[in-house]
Amino acid sequence: MFSLEENQLLTQTGQGTAMGNLFRRFWLPVLIATELPEPDCPPVRVRILGEDLVAFRDTAGTVGLVDAHCPHRRAGLFFGRNEEHGLRCLFHGWKFDATGQCVDIPSVSNGETLKKNVRITAYPVQEYGGYIWCYMGPKDEQPELPRMEFALVDPSHRFITKRRQLANWAQVAEGILDPTHFSYLHIPISRDKDQWGKMMYGANFSTDKIDPRMRWVTEDGCPSIHVQPLPNDLGMTVAGKRSADGDESYWRIIQFLMPSTSLAPGSSKGENYHGQTIVPIDDGSAWVYSYTWNPERPLSDQERKNLGSGSAIHPAMDDQFLPKRNRDNDYLIDREMQKTETYSGIVGIGEQDAAICESQGIIFDRTKELLVASDLGIVRMRKLWLEAARQLTQGIPPKAPAHPDGYKVRSGNAVTHNSVPLAEVMIERFGHVHGHLGDLYDESLHNR
Ligand code: FES
Ligand SMILES: [Fe+2]
Repeated sequence: MFSLEENQLLTQTGQGTAMGNLFRRFWLPVLIATELPEPDCPPVRVRILGEDLVAFRDTAGTVGLVDAHCPHRRAGLFFGRNEEHGLRCLFHGWKFDATGQCVDIPSVSNGETLKKNVRITAYPVQEYGGYIWCYMGPKDEQPELPRMEFALVDPSHRFITKRRQLANWAQVAEGILDPTHFSYLHIPISRDKDQWGKMMYGANFSTDKIDPRMRWVTEDGCPSIHVQPLPNDLGMTVAGKRSADGDESYWRIIQFLMPSTSLAPGSSKGENYHGQTIVPIDDGSAWVYSYTWNPERPLSDQERKNLGSGSAIHPAMDDQFLPKRNRDNDYLIDREMQKTETYSGIVGIGEQDAAICESQGIIFDRTKELLVASDLGIVRMRKLWLEAARQLTQGIPPKAPAHPDGYKVRSGNAVTHNSVPLAEVMIERFGHVHGHLGDLYDESLHNR
């Protein structure tokens, strides 16, 4: 059983906490790049792992991610003037460049000398895969960016969003690590193909887009759970195996990558793939950076329109990236729809997940859970998280950040004879026991 101490260890990510230190060893998405659309555009508030920061794009286009407060009298730099290669505090005009160095102190006579010794916290940032990423760990341990496929494809092949979730990061992650819930939370009652289409693809779907294998998800609500660790403590492959027709099995295979990325299990070859990276805002809320990509072709305008208006893992959102169906309006649950059409009565896969996650409480008490066999993925991943956090406390850094190429894996579904074990399913479906993409994209990395 999970102890109170373990619950705190897992869920607390502020400065100086064990899990917070672990998160700080990884590159984390922090904004959609278009939130800073052009040089000298307005700065943006950022809150990540409980730290308040400000992001700005300077005159040269370089992004700075700095302390939210001016070191002079702690005025908020969000209100600063973004001008000529730096952010200038409104209160007395002190100015800072993207590296955090103070470059002007016009309000005192010895400002020219003084400024050399003034610097504010600034984290390294990189633009990658349409997001701005930051690294908040020790400088001499800065790893390379993880080579996730969505970020390596041409921008025309991907669609990205982010959404705010009003619960602790670990709850969001554990929701994903649970292959069984799809047979309940996300299903239509009528088991009608058209309803699947509406749920998965939005209003504009056509029936020929639907994977007929989704039927097995509704027919077998008791999948067996199979877990296979990824090398170098990168995370794990978590698969749900359901009965298909005859002597075949239907597999839905999740890749969960440290510290908080999941690649979704539903895609067949040739379809769009989906993934999510969860980043704590603080211990009571998280950003879920969500991406859809197609390795083989650009996404069409219609697909972008559908995804942008809310479909698959992307909810319909307001301009603050809060889903329109949210905690304050009970996710617009429709009890009539719940009786007659869908299990949840809530529209949208992302919204259904959010409703359940947030219904557990902001940080739920894991000492009161009753875990069963279907929770195997959650149990194993908790062990990996806690071991990594504890080891880091003893001075042993996590292995995963030093293996960026290990992130180049794919997830998806597969149909096999029911005697085939997961390791062989992976080889059959992805050509590699861990779903690794080999040297695919190495050329584009080289040219980056
Ligand atoms: S508080 Fe920022 S310049 Fe004085
Ligand atoms: Fe879900």
